[in-house]
Amino acid sequence: MYDQVFSGRFLYRGSFQELDIGVNNGIISGIKKHIPGERKILKHAVMPAGTDTHVHFRDPGETDKEDFATGTISAVYGGTSTIFDMPNNRVKIDNYSAYSDKLGIVKRKAFCDFGLYSMFTGNNAQVISKESSGIKIYMGETTNAAGTSGFSESGIEAINTMNIPVVFHAEDGKCLEIHNKIARNLKEYSAIRPEECEDVAIKNATDMHFNRGVITHMTHSVDTPYAKEVTPHHLLLNYDMPLGSYGKVNPPLRSPETQQNLLHSYTGGSFAVVSSDHAPHVQGDKGEFEFARSGIIGVETRIPLILALVQKKIVPFDVFYKTCILNPARMFSLRKGEIDTGNYADFITVDFSSMERINDYRLHSKNPGSPFNGFDAIFPEDVIIRGGSVIERRELVNDRSGKYVEDLEPLK
Ligand code: DOR
Ligand code: ZN
Repeated sequence: MYDQVFSGRFLYRGSFQELDIGVNNGIISGIKKHIPGERKILKHAVMPAGTDTHVHFRDPGETDKEDFATGTISAVYGGTSTIFDMPNNRVKIDNYSAYSDKLGIVKRKAFCDFGLYSMFTGNNAQVISKESSGIKIYMGETTNAAGTSGFSESGIEAINTMNIPVVFHAEDGKCLEIHNKIARNLKEYSAIRPEECEDVAIKNATDMHFNRGVITHMTHSVDTPYAKEVTPHHLLLNYDMPLGSYGKVNPPLRSPETQQNLLHSYTGGSFAVVSSDHAPHVQGDKGEFEFARSGIIGVETRIPLILALVQKKIVPFDVFYKTCILNPARMFSLRKGEIDTGNYADFITVDFSSMERINDYRLHSKNPGSPFNGFDAIFPEDVIIRGGSVIERRELVNDRSGKYVEDLEPLK
């Protein structure tokens, strides 16, 4: 009757319950108290695997920093079964041929499921790939992106009709230019890319009235009708910490007070999504602060860091589940994020007693230097994607079998 049956304590309709789950073709087909026959027993707490809506895996073009294999391996070790990769490759993904070239390259390397963003630069709406999973708009300059301001009504309308998430890097280009000067440390870096540049950009983004607008990596809470994303680094790090250039990121880390306020808003439920903004650079790019490149890795530590905060009762379980698992899957209309019939059998098992300190040389990124070194984390024991084991007892047991989200079953 089923290809496979999993047995364990599953997060189902808001609570953990002892259940048997039948799976056909990677999709959950039956959820019962007991299903007779052979069953695969899952230990610990079983929940749906996570979705990371914002990563930079640098493939193609800068595979000395990361590639799609090392990036997706890092994702699965961290309990994430689907990632969405940003378009600021060395050659920008702002037209359909760049998109299909990238897809052809990364498809064969993926260890987890994935989607790809295209970059909207204001005048390229007609040449953006119709297949794009999402749109990214850089309002100010950052790694491999110039920043744009001129958006025509017709361009905005064309993007809106694609009916996919439109994600804003909200730092205003003109505002950044006024402030731009040298920064020798994290505090000075926050001063030359101040919060007011975010506020201007968020207002301008909101005025474009996209149906599915998202403000990513907010460093402080601002009212907007768009969905709000926050990163673990803005929640947990601030410019007074001795992180050097490994803490250099756009938008910058803020003051301890701003960080505490952000964490407080997050635990109170003000944010829809936690995304990692995983942005690796080679060690040489992270030398002297003034000249260091911006970006922090995080795809492998996103869920483990927040799980540790759940265990310490700093973050409510429900806030963790919605922001790291449910809402990111919903943002892209995936059949994921919730254990239910018709959804993919993407599971993680979590032993809440297995708290440990992050040791960055054990992370799986090509450039594992992390400002979270020494932070408490709970890594998943097992990771299952579409019914297949990818991680078992914290070891990789599968080869590249990640699928492009366009090749997954759509929501009914
Ligand atoms: O710090 C950052 N690094 N911010 C971005 O917006 C881009 C990212 C990167 O790609 O390096
Ligand atoms: Zn980013």
